[in-house]
Amino acid sequence: MDHFLYRDGILHAEDVPLTEIARRVGTPVYVYSAATLLRHYNLFDEALAWGPHLVCYAVKAASNIAILKLLGDAGAGMDVVSEGEYRRARAAGVPGEQIVFSGVGKTEAEMRHVLAGGVRQINLESEAEMRLLSRVADEMGLEVPVTVRVNPDVDAKTHEKIATGKSENKFGIPIAKARQVYAEIAALPGLRVVGIDVHIGSQLTDLDPFRQAYAKVADLTHALRADGHSIERLDLGGGLGIPYARSNLAPPVPLEYGQVIRDEVGDLGCEIEIEPGRLIAGNAGILLASTIFVKEGEGRDFLILDAAMNDLIRPAMYGAHHDIVPVVEPAPGIDTRAYDIVGPVCESGDTFAKGRDMVPLSAGDLVAFRSAGAYGAVMASEYNARPLIPEVLVQGEDHAIIRPRPSYDEMISREAIPHWLGDD
Ligand code: LLP
Repeated sequence: MDHFLYRDGILHAEDVPLTEIARRVGTPVYVYSAATLLRHYNLFDEALAWGPHLVCYAVKAASNIAILKLLGDAGAGMDVVSEGEYRRARAAGVPGEQIVFSGVGKTEAEMRHVLAGGVRQINLESEAEMRLLSRVADEMGLEVPVTVRVNPDVDAKTHEKIATGKSENKFGIPIAKARQVYAEIAALPGLRVVGIDVHIGSQLTDLDPFRQAYAKVADLTHALRADGHSIERLDLGGGLGIPYARSNLAPPVPLEYGQVIRDEVGDLGCEIEIEPGRLIAGNAGILLASTIFVKEGEGRDFLILDAAMNDLIRPAMYGAHHDIVPVVEPAPGIDTRAYDIVGPVCESGDTFAKGRDMVPLSAGDLVAFRSAGAYGAVMASEYNARPLIPEVLVQGEDHAIIRPRPSYDEMISREAIPHWLGDD
C-alpha cells in the first residue's frame, strides 16, 4: 500500500496534489511519501518482533539524507556499501553503532574512515579483504565486529543482473569454504567474529530461495559454534520484491518473510538483522514528468516526456516495468490508445514502455511513474547534459525540496578547462 491516490480527480502524494509540486518545483522530479516509507519500515520491524532484531535500511535504494533521517529517527539501522553512503547516514544523524558496512570492494581508506567513525559490524566478502581489515584495525588499535558474507549457491529466481547468491556471482565466499575462513579470522588480530551474513539478490517474489538460503545459514551456525566461534547475529540481507505492475500478483509481504526467518533461524538465539531497500523505498516514491510532445509515428504514437533514461534507468537497464499514470484522473470508460513512452535522450534505449495503453494525452499533461522510489534518483546521471532532477519529500500536507534542481551553471562550473587549452 502507498499514499499516492487520486483525490478530487488529481493524483496526490499524501495530502499534496502532484499538480502543486509540478508547479512549484517543475518537472521532472522525484516525490516521496514519508508515511509510506515509515509504514514499510514498520512492517519489517513488526515482522521480526518475535525476537531481537535490527532493520538496516539499504541506503543504496534511496540515499537522500532526509529519507535516512526519517528512517533513522524511527529506529532503523543502515546498511551502507561505500564511504559516501556511510557519510550520508552519519549526516542524517545515524550513530555508527547502527551502521553495517557491506560491499565486495571496500578500500583501505573507506575502512579507516568507517572504523574511526564507529560501525556496528563489517560484512567481509573475501579473504583478501579480511587480511586488509585485520591489518587496518590492528594498526588503529581496534577490534572490529565482523561477519562473513557467505554465498549459499541458491537461485534467487530474479533478473540476472540483480541475482547475487549463485556460485558464479562475485559476492561472498562459497559457503562450503566458510569454516576455513572463520578459522583464519579467529587467528587474525583486530577482528572479532559476531555472526554470519547472506544476501542472495533483489526483487525476489518467491520466499523459497530465502528459505533455502536461511536453512543453509542455520546449518552453518551450528557448525561454526561447534568450531568455537561466537555466532550471535545473523545478517540475512535484503531482497524482498515489490509489485511493479498493479495488475500482477502481489509478492509476499514482510510478515510472511518474517515468518520464514523465524521458521529457519528463529531458534538459534541470534539477533536478526535484515537489509531491505526496495520494499521500503520503492513504492514510497514516484517520478513526476510532463509530456513535451505527442508525436505521430508509423503505426504508433510516441509520448515524449521530459524525463529520460538518465533520470530513471531501470527500464533501459533491466527491461523493468513501471506503471505510468496520468496525474489528472481519467474519466471512467474513456477509450485508451497505445503509446511508446520515451524520453528526449538520443538513443532508442531511452524508452520507458512500448505499446502502453494510456488515456489520450496532450503536450503539457503530467504523468507519474509509480514504484520509482528505489533505485531511481540514486542511479540517475547527467547523460545528455541533463542536470540531476530534484527530490521532494511529502509528509501530510507538507512538502519540502530535499534536493534542489541544480542550475545549468552549477552543472557546468564543476568542470575546468586546463590552462594549456586557453581560457577564452
Ligand atoms: N543488501 C545487499 C548486500 C545488497 O546488495 C542489496 C541490493 C540490498 C541489501 C538491498 O536489496 P533490496 O531489498 O533493495 O532488494 N538497481 C537494481 C537493484 C540492485 C540491488 C543491489 N543490491 C534495480 O533497480 O532493480
